[in-house]
Amino acid sequence: MFMFLVTFVASSFAMLSLASPVGRQTAVCPWNGVPNASNFVLLAVSRVDTSIRKPLALVLNGLPGSSTAWLGSAESTDPIVASKFVLSDGGITAYAADGSLVGVSNPVASENGWLSFLLPDKGVTISPAEVYCELFNTSPYGVEFPNTLAVNGGDSDHFSLCKSSTSDEFVVIYNAVEASSGDAGFEWTTCTAVDIPVLPK
Ligand SMILES: *[C@@H]1O[C@H](CO)[C@@H](O)[C@H](O)[C@H]1NC(C)=O
Repeated sequence: MFMFLVTFVASSFAMLSLASPVGRQTAVCPWNGVPNASNFVLLAVSRVDTSIRKPLALVLNGLPGSSTAWLGSAESTDPIVASKFVLSDGGITAYAADGSLVGVSNPVASENGWLSFLLPDKGVTISPAEVYCELFNTSPYGVEFPNTLAVNGGDSDHFSLCKSSTSDEFVVIYNAVEASSGDAGFEWTTCTAVDIPVLPK
């Protein structure tokens, strides 16, 4: 009987922990982060050579008509879907040049995570996944970019800019690791570690 109870209780916990990932995700910002930021643009700055800087935008990775767009270099040959953003309660909404809302953030995988955005049909309202934070970086000597983007509980240290394996785009990948088998959709050897400053616009 006791063993049965233990098993029952243990399996109930297992079910609860299985159930939680499908629930609403909420940004957990560390002490030096906030879940809100009004109009901003994003930049990728190489962690190795900070003179290498690429403005970021939502791009289609060579897939015209896609209902998903990805954060990547604005130097893309594809049309730019959006390049202005708002962070609200950890969710990012993306805006086209004419100011219309065109994208909402999706969850980001903990490994080889693309920073993808759903492009809802016009007039359709979908809540963004609440997985982002803006971190403050203060230093007595001053820092050029005091605010940076962070994801999945406030991690700003594991972004890379990598060439897509299916288009000429350079896309942002969270926690890029060399795929042991198959294709993660990007060319691992092209990845450069980057910080992603948040610049008010
Ligand atoms: C973030 O903004 C939302 C409304 O957009 C507000 O309800 C919330 O309190 C704000 N959070 C913080 C920490 O300021």
